[in-house]
Amino acid sequence: MKILVIGGGGREHAIAWKIKKSRWVSKVYCAPGNGGIDSVAQCVPIKADDIPALLDFAVENEIDLSIVGPEAPLADGIVDQFEAKGLKVFGPSKAAARLESSKVFAKMIMDKYNIPTAAYRSFDSPKDAKKYIRETGGPMVVKVDGLAAGKGAFPCEDELEALNAVETIASGVFKSAGLKILIEEYLVGEEASILAFSDGKNVIPLESAQDHKRAYDGDLGPNTGGMGAYSPAPVITEDLSSRIYDEILVPTVRAMEAEGCPYKGILYAGLMITEEGPKVIEFNCRFGDPEAQAVIPRLATDFLKPILACCDGTLDKVKLRWSRNKCVCVVLASGGYPGPYEKGHVIEGLDKLERMENMIAFHAGTKINDNGEVVSSGGRVLGITSTGSTIRETIKNTYKGVKKVSFQDSFHRKDIGKKALFHIDGM
Ligand code: AMP
Ligand code: GLY
Repeated sequence: MKILVIGGGGREHAIAWKIKKSRWVSKVYCAPGNGGIDSVAQCVPIKADDIPALLDFAVENEIDLSIVGPEAPLADGIVDQFEAKGLKVFGPSKAAARLESSKVFAKMIMDKYNIPTAAYRSFDSPKDAKKYIRETGGPMVVKVDGLAAGKGAFPCEDELEALNAVETIASGVFKSAGLKILIEEYLVGEEASILAFSDGKNVIPLESAQDHKRAYDGDLGPNTGGMGAYSPAPVITEDLSSRIYDEILVPTVRAMEAEGCPYKGILYAGLMITEEGPKVIEFNCRFGDPEAQAVIPRLATDFLKPILACCDGTLDKVKLRWSRNKCVCVVLASGGYPGPYEKGHVIEGLDKLERMENMIAFHAGTKINDNGEVVSSGGRVLGITSTGSTIRETIKNTYKGVKKVSFQDSFHRKDIGKKALFHIDGM
């Protein structure tokens, strides 16, 4: 089969790398790809949101299956447009992708179908949001309704911070994504990400993962797209896993079916494990980045099987097998990220990393320059990822890999996986 992976980040590198291993796959293309993906796929210079050009490419090259990585083309209806041309594509329709593209829609679904989440109010005007903040006070989370690359949520300790967050949103930086403002109850607990395959009716959860959203060690600093991840997340016990399945995943897929927009693709539930149980912080309509880099390498079943089953509505026939190995991914970012940062710095040491066992650098913001060197080209640059039999050993080994690679002004978190160790031995 000929596969087209759409996107050009670390998640898409992990997807392309894994799908290339499938016994049914003869050729992988990636649009637009990046400086590392070209080692596993043929990169084609089409942007991930250029749906007409992607369609033409898929038709001309007789692509058998397209896998959509990022949320933007899903929210813009890439799946509807590909399917209208008879092309097979993995991902939710535009209507189903609203679970991510509109937080107000997601909240409406959760309310209507009793799916546990933070209490909330939504506002069309910053003035009304501010009035509500002054009336209620206390910790709260201010969010924009639409897509914001992981930067549209402001956890606020007090009234002043919340008012400032509304000011920021009202200044227009989020464009149309910020036209509606949500104010949520501040949930307390540990976060985890549960991703699941869904064919519209059936759901199969993937193994758990934990992201590290804040930029700096100790969960400090601004929210980012994610600075590292590990899988499995020991906070998700067997008991919690079945509660998440019964109380969140199955009801959500049933709800979307009942609403006339069956959910097909990856359903990503960002969860807070509170004292009352798991609650949804957000839904995403695609693989997480960097959760994909930590979860996908552990999948022992041929990756193509569940993906095709989601497209064909036969997920009930699939059983996933997982490696017992643990996986850790540490993101190397450009200095300044998630704010402004420089690009074009040469990355040294990737060859040394390639010689290490059970180690891979998933490329995110990289490209090859005119001299054939790999250079940084984005905020999150590389996801140094390794697998091993214990989480402790895997964390250690991943950081050995991190030490081999360098570029000017890079930074990374030094505590990826620490919470897993805390669960295991209270350290
Ligand atoms: P979101 O963009 O909704 O995924 O939020 C980004 C991050 O903000 C989450 O991963 C949490 O760390 C934090 N956050 C969002 N909503 C809440 C909430 N209701 N309570 C506590 N923290 C939250
Ligand atoms: N790691 C968070 C996300 O993919 O949205």
